[in-house]
Amino acid sequence: MDYLTTLLLLISIVSASIIRIFIRRFESVRLPPGPRPFPIIGNILELGINPHKSPTKLSKIYGPLMTLKLDSITTIVISSPQVAKQVLHKNGHVFSSRTIPHSVQALDHHRFSIVWLPPSPKWRNLRRVCATKVFSPQLLDSTQILRQQKVHDLLDFVKERCKKGEVIGFCERKMQKILVNVWAIGRDPTIWENPEMFMPERFLECEIDFKGHDFELIPFGTGKRICPGLPLAHRSMHLMVASLVHNFEWKLADGLVPENMNMEEQYGISIKRVQSLLVEAISIKHD
Ligand code: HEM
Repeated sequence: MDYLTTLLLLISIVSASIIRIFIRRFESVRLPPGPRPFPIIGNILELGINPHKSPTKLSKIYGPLMTLKLDSITTIVISSPQVAKQVLHKNGHVFSSRTIPHSVQALDHHRFSIVWLPPSPKWRNLRRVCATKVFSPQLLDSTQILRQQKVHDLLDFVKERCKKGEVIGFCERKMQKILVNVWAIGRDPTIWENPEMFMPERFLECEIDFKGHDFELIPFGTGKRICPGLPLAHRSMHLMVASLVHNFEWKLADGLVPENMNMEEQYGISIKRVQSLLVEAISIKHD
């Protein structure tokens, strides 16, 4: 490499660094507060082994509108229903594309799947097909018997396993540029009394609805990208849970008592319990 090329290379590296520093300064003036990011890795270390919980802890320090640098991506974390409503109501159209992981791109899912497509005529068309053909009230009414049959199959399966004396393992199922921290919102003590307690009766007299209008409870998301399977899930969940509760007596396996259960969770593609919840369906009430 001759002298001139080396000089030009050095000048371009130095000027790129200066421009980056200016951009960062400019950004930091306009972005919400957040922990100071390391070069290159940003705030990744702050997330630790429970990245679904850490933003909640950080939001207690930096507030309900916070900036995290995850890798090179500037992520705004919203941890209160009021702020979520304000930001998403006014700017829903801007934030209605998802960040697409490479694994999804490898199989071209981002070009065809309703889940990954950006708002576009193709995506709108798929949403319309879902709303009018797949999950319409008429269609769901007409397929009620099929769902009941499937729940029967589930009950038969549980009955068979418990006759064999087998223990049934249940695990629970369950984030980029704008990250609505549903974890924090669902555990906000100013909204929910004893938020960590399992108290399904809290919803009985509750005005807060789950269908995307009340930002205090958005298990199906909200706005343009709200879950299109909501009507089916709404019908099936009741049927499934009620059938399992009604048909069996349930008890914890291995002499475990509720007080000694480890309710800690382990982060993964889905959130699992550290200790899987082993339960036995012991006596069949109805055949
Ligand atoms: C209890 C059950 C379910 C829960 C809690 C749930 C929750 C969600 C959530 C939180 C989203 C993202 C919403 C957003 O980005 O704002 C979503 C999207 C989606 N869900 Fe569900 N869902 C459930 C059941 C279903 C079922 C039964 C189906 C279909 C059979 C389904 C199909 C979809 C699809 C296709 C999307 C992507 C929609 C889009 O990006 O336009 N979901 N769901």
